[in-house]
Amino acid sequence: MKKIVLALTGASGMPYGLELVRQFKSHGFELHLVVSDAAQTVLSLETPDFESVTSMADYIYNQKQLGAPISSGSFIHSGMVVCPCSMASLSAIASGLGSNLIHRAADVTLKEKRPLVLVPREMPYNRTHLKNMLRAHDSGAVILPPCPGFYHSPDSIHDLVKHVAGKILDSLGIENSLFNRWEGIV
Ligand SMILES: Cc1cc2nc3c(=O)[nH]c(=O)nc-3n(C[C@H](O)[C@H](O)[C@H](O)COP(=O)(O)O)c2cc1C
Repeated sequence: MKKIVLALTGASGMPYGLELVRQFKSHGFELHLVVSDAAQTVLSLETPDFESVTSMADYIYNQKQLGAPISSGSFIHSGMVVCPCSMASLSAIASGLGSNLIHRAADVTLKEKRPLVLVPREMPYNRTHLKNMLRAHDSGAVILPPCPGFYHSPDSIHDLVKHVAGKILDSLGIENSLFNRWEGIV
């Protein structure tokens, strides 16, 4: 079975992460989900019913479980997404820190040249945030900030969430129809 890794860190934007859980499961992936301590707090604030979605994951880890399979490059998977990605986790990943399970799994994903998509959320970004995005990009990560477009005529917040989720799936090469694609102006 195709495997995928998703990490939720303590930035705002949990509806994006939960939409990814639903999408990865509906696309038939074995989902390995890591939830940081700070993400638990933000999940309770932004998406109080989160457990009904996170329980769809096949494996759920906390950030201290460094012995999990996703800590090792020998665990083969189709990619890893950190969504939402806090500036703290962005910094740790850009530095190759590896001291919690999320940062270690991201580091391993980069060393094995597998897809790593970071969805950094802060507003505005300071110079350190921007430098860390460039460092992570130069190490092989895709930097995909949650900036939904409006050209596809969204009717709801869920449409905006689906646009960001659809772009993340695109980055991983997963076919989807989560948003209306631009077909040009004739
Ligand atoms: C309600 C709430 C919202 C937060 N939103 C953000 C955010 O959007 N971006 C960010 O970088 N940090 C945000 N933080 C701060 C992070 O949670 C904090 O830096 C934490 O140490 C991140 O740890 P982690 O990366 O291990 O999850 C928020 C914290 C709280 C309590």
